[in-house]
Amino acid sequence: MFELRCTVRNCNQPLTGVEGGLGCGAGHRFDRAKEGYWNLTQPQDKKSANPGDHREAVLARHRWLQCGHAAGLIGALRPWIPVSDLVRVLDLGCGDGTFGPALFPGGAARFCGIDLSRPAIKLAARRWAEATWVLANADRGLPVDDSSVQCVLSLFGRRPVAEISRVLSADGICIVAVPGEEDLIELREQVQKEGKRRNRVAAIVQEMESGGLVCVDQKHWQAQVNVTAGQIADALAMTYRAGRRSEQSLVASIDASTVTLAADLLKFRPASEAQSL
Ligand SMILES: C[S@@+](CC[C@H](N)C(=O)[O-])C[C@H]1O[C@@H](n2cnc3c(N)ncnc32)[C@H](O)[C@@H]1O
Ligand SMILES: [Zn+2]
Repeated sequence: MFELRCTVRNCNQPLTGVEGGLGCGAGHRFDRAKEGYWNLTQPQDKKSANPGDHREAVLARHRWLQCGHAAGLIGALRPWIPVSDLVRVLDLGCGDGTFGPALFPGGAARFCGIDLSRPAIKLAARRWAEATWVLANADRGLPVDDSSVQCVLSLFGRRPVAEISRVLSADGICIVAVPGEEDLIELREQVQKEGKRRNRVAAIVQEMESGGLVCVDQKHWQAQVNVTAGQIADALAMTYRAGRRSEQSLVASIDASTVTLAADLLKFRPASEAQSL
């Protein structure tokens, strides 16, 4: 199993298997849920301002990904994936866990996905039971040792830069994906009147650099897909939060159509390593 460490404040001791769960040397215990994930949340995570995606959004993204809409994106990410058997991978905001087995087939023992949404981590644990799945708040601290991970994924998820920098090994990489300017533009144009085009790349490069991670490669992925009315509803449910339901119902009448999918993909390395390349 993927080695984890205790999330009790200032403890950080290694976790090992104990009856029905995991425990550290200081006596802190964590349960294994019946679905197979580890619950490493702390009481303060329940009051978190960002409690992870709600069930409706998780299920909408799950259905969307099951339609194969991420296949092209997975193909675009593959050339960046390290092939060594020694690579330990941390997927931050892993959602329903679609990307892990697609990018690291055969790598379950060295793969750990983290998400703060219970419905998301349950789906992930069901999909790829041999990997390690953790319910935890990635913004509060990552439950792994310093320099112990060779690949961090942040695919449309969290980017706790200081923590990513702490856990990455000197030769490690962090792969970030964010929605591209044109992503779902046809739908956003209808919902927002003029669809806002927002390029996030420069801001993310700067944000990561402030944490000692240098962008060493980047690419843009874009595709046109045909979607049904049901898939449009899912795309909107995973894009807009519950408070914006009115916007969702506004386009409930849109029929099947073609939409653009786009993502900016960025590859980062620790600054010290990037300089020596
Ligand atoms: C847009 S989804 C992306 C999921 C997945 N990476 C994918 O591309 O399908 C963002 C995910 O981040 C999770 N999340 C939000 N805040 C989080 C936090 N503080 N810690 C861990 N996960 C979090 C959400 O629950 C959600 O599953
Ligand atoms: Zn502990």
